[in-house]
Amino acid sequence: MSKTTNINNRRYLGNKYKLLPFIKATVDAECKSVESVFDIFAGTGAVSSAFQDKKLITNDIMYSNYICNYAWFSAEEYDEKKVAKLIDNYNSVEIHEKNYMTDNFSDTYFSALDCSKIGYIRQNIEDLFSENKINGRERAILITSLLYGMDKIAKTCGHYDAYRKGVEFDTHLELAIPLARIIKYLIFSLLKLLIPTR
Ligand SMILES: C[S@@+](CC[C@H](N)C(=O)[O-])C[C@H]1O[C@@H](n2cnc3c(N)ncnc32)[C@H](O)[C@@H]1O
Repeated sequence: MSKTTNINNRRYLGNKYKLLPFIKATVDAECKSVESVFDIFAGTGAVSSAFQDKKLITNDIMYSNYICNYAWFSAEEYDEKKVAKLIDNYNSVEIHEKNYMTDNFSDTYFSALDCSKIGYIRQNIEDLFSENKINGRERAILITSLLYGMDKIAKTCGHYDAYRKGVEFDTHLELAIPLARIIKYLIFSLLKLLIPTR
């Protein structure tokens, strides 16, 4: 069984995870009746993660951040068992193929072997989606799992415009299952309809 992972389990310069107690306390004190939160530069989604009891709108210009935020917060349902099984399979499969990742990134941020596996997994996710075997949320969760796994082993200091030359590739790709929320907001909204508050 694969490990699990949470939203803050990544390297992202400028993420506000450590500021959450301050942000949360300020919002609780100054914006008492707030019902919706718009995280306009959402990045990792760390700030939004503190407001999952509200109606959430997240925004980020980077597609990879959009995908991660969709994975963590979307109200679209997903099949947890299907996602876990796919991630288990990705972790156990051995891949030695040439693909986009090996052609462009072998022995840079990742070893040639890890590049082969990353390229294979990314293409496989897209194939499953175009064959309607996974839905949009499941696609986003699998890509998020891949991104987080890559982030753990990348030979960078956090920025992806440069890699550390000549360092040993001592860790290898391992995907974890993102513990993405399951339509909490909808359940919360339904409860609010059933039990109206003043
Ligand atoms: C400092 S990070 C935000 C960190 C985030 N609060 C967190 O905790 O992870 C700033 C984010 O703004 C996004 N960004 C920059 N310019 C933008 C724009 N014009 N529209 C939308 N997002 C933008 C970047 O992609 C980046 O993810």
